[in-house]
Amino acid sequence: MDNLTIERVKAGLADPGIGPETIALMLTDACNLSCVYCRGGRIDDSRGGGEESELTTEELFRLFEDAAGFKVKEVNIGGMRGEPFCKKDIRLILRKIKSLGLTGSMTTNGSMLSGALAEEMSSYGWDILLLSLDAPFARLQHQLRPAANGKEYFHNILEFLGALNNNPSSRMRVLVNMVITGNNYRYFPGMVDFVNNFKNIESLNVLRLVDMGLPGYSDLQLDCGQAAEFRETLEAFKREKKVLYAGNWSFPDVRRETPAGRHTRCFTNYYILSIAANGDVLFCPQQYKPLSGINIRDVRLRDLWLNEHLSFRKILSESAPCYGECCTILKKQNEEIYNAVCDD
Ligand SMILES: C[S@@+](CC[C@H](N)C(=O)[O-])C[C@H]1O[C@@H](n2cnc3c(N)ncnc32)[C@H](O)[C@@H]1O
Repeated sequence: MDNLTIERVKAGLADPGIGPETIALMLTDACNLSCVYCRGGRIDDSRGGGEESELTTEELFRLFEDAAGFKVKEVNIGGMRGEPFCKKDIRLILRKIKSLGLTGSMTTNGSMLSGALAEEMSSYGWDILLLSLDAPFARLQHQLRPAANGKEYFHNILEFLGALNNNPSSRMRVLVNMVITGNNYRYFPGMVDFVNNFKNIESLNVLRLVDMGLPGYSDLQLDCGQAAEFRETLEAFKREKKVLYAGNWSFPDVRRETPAGRHTRCFTNYYILSIAANGDVLFCPQQYKPLSGINIRDVRLRDLWLNEHLSFRKILSESAPCYGECCTILKKQNEEIYNAVCDD
């Protein structure tokens, strides 16, 4: 974790005038894929709210302007649900973020990428693309992450990455996220070869499958033998330094109980402000849980952050109820912050 982030949290604990470092923003709840393990988007109107409830382009622009004026460093879009490229005006939105000098990062399923988009996004310096890719070839990718309309899209991802390869001046960092299931874990070495073909791909991150209560979860989950086999493969690649971030695979399979007496403090809300597509402020960037009554439509960013009577930032930093079950990089980051800022 960046020392500057730790310093920012430290300063922010004493001074509410220090704004968030990152805004994690869900642009839309709509998604064009129907991934076998995901509940993350509104493919039809039975999932989530309608587009009319989402922040408009004008409201988003105001938020980005406020963010730039409040020394926010990064706007991260789409990390939790929905597909950013389903959002109306997405290309204007990306440009706006960059025109304000903010770092832009986005999680995407890649299905709507293209060579032209690689050129366009490189031209205004889009910074980070977190690409969700579960397989190094089309058939398996479409099996695990099918498009709702049944169309194939893997070639769009190849075209995008190929165009970045052919553009020597593109500095876009592509971080690939692969969700590990019983269907794809054996193709992990193939994924490593795949990502090594593309100069802009910086890392291959492996994500543990989270149970979202969908039917068929147990068929997707690795059994004990498969999990042991996968961890061994992963260790071998880590030794060769081909995988930069092995996500929560370094942890045991079982959910860990927090030992008695262990701290459960989480400082996430001192450096990340998480906002749902409709403007609700969320509990944290991993839990899609709105904090009641706080919506960015009703309050300017600076006022929201300074308004301590709402105290939303303190909730997790005093004791996070979700600490034991958190299995994301936030947990590791919080250990570092805790060690740097706490005496207890
Ligand atoms: C919900 S998606 C939203 C962003 C975008 N539509 C995309 O697909 O990248 C964000 C990430 O969550 C991951 N994801 C979805 N369901 C998951 C699950 N059950 N377990 C682990 N990761 C999951 C996806 O693979 C993706 O990388």
